[in-house]
Amino acid sequence: MKDIESREDLFVIVTDFYRFLFQSQVLHHFFLKFKDSEVLDDHLKILVDFWDNTLFYSGTYTKNAMKPHLILNERNPIKPVHFEEWILLFNKAVDSKFQGVNAETLKNRASSIATVMNLKISQK
Ligand code: HEM
Repeated sequence: MKDIESREDLFVIVTDFYRFLFQSQVLHHFFLKFKDSEVLDDHLKILVDFWDNTLFYSGTYTKNAMKPHLILNERNPIKPVHFEEWILLFNKAVDSKFQGVNAETLKNRASSIATVMNLKISQK
């Protein structure tokens, strides 16, 4: 298995990840609006920008990713059980196709961000 080397690789990961999210009994209700393929395409592009920036410091994402989750949480509470499942499925999407230093870094950063997000949301 190869390591993550490019935006194309990140696109493969987020595409698989969203397939897993749609199938998840625990999480699919958060992601209903992305069943529309145009909405999903735009969103996946933003996610590739986000992960490209997080992993390769590409400068492609400059917004505060926390904000939409705080808003979402008000309508639709995001609990620890949701974060646990999110991390599990994210790791599954990475591990099913990639292996190496970048793959490990990506999973570690995802877990750290999820931990902080969970903490900030639980303080609301
Ligand atoms: C159970 C936990 C999570 C749920 C339910 C969730 C759900 C969502 C949803 C519904 C959106 C779309 C918001 C909108 O368009 O208004 C979104 C956007 C996003 N999420 Fe999450 N998310 C979770 C955790 C995370 C984590 C841990 C990360 C990062 C490690 C993350 C990264 C992002 C990014 C980068 C966006 C795009 C924000 C933008 O449009 O600039 N999410 N999330």
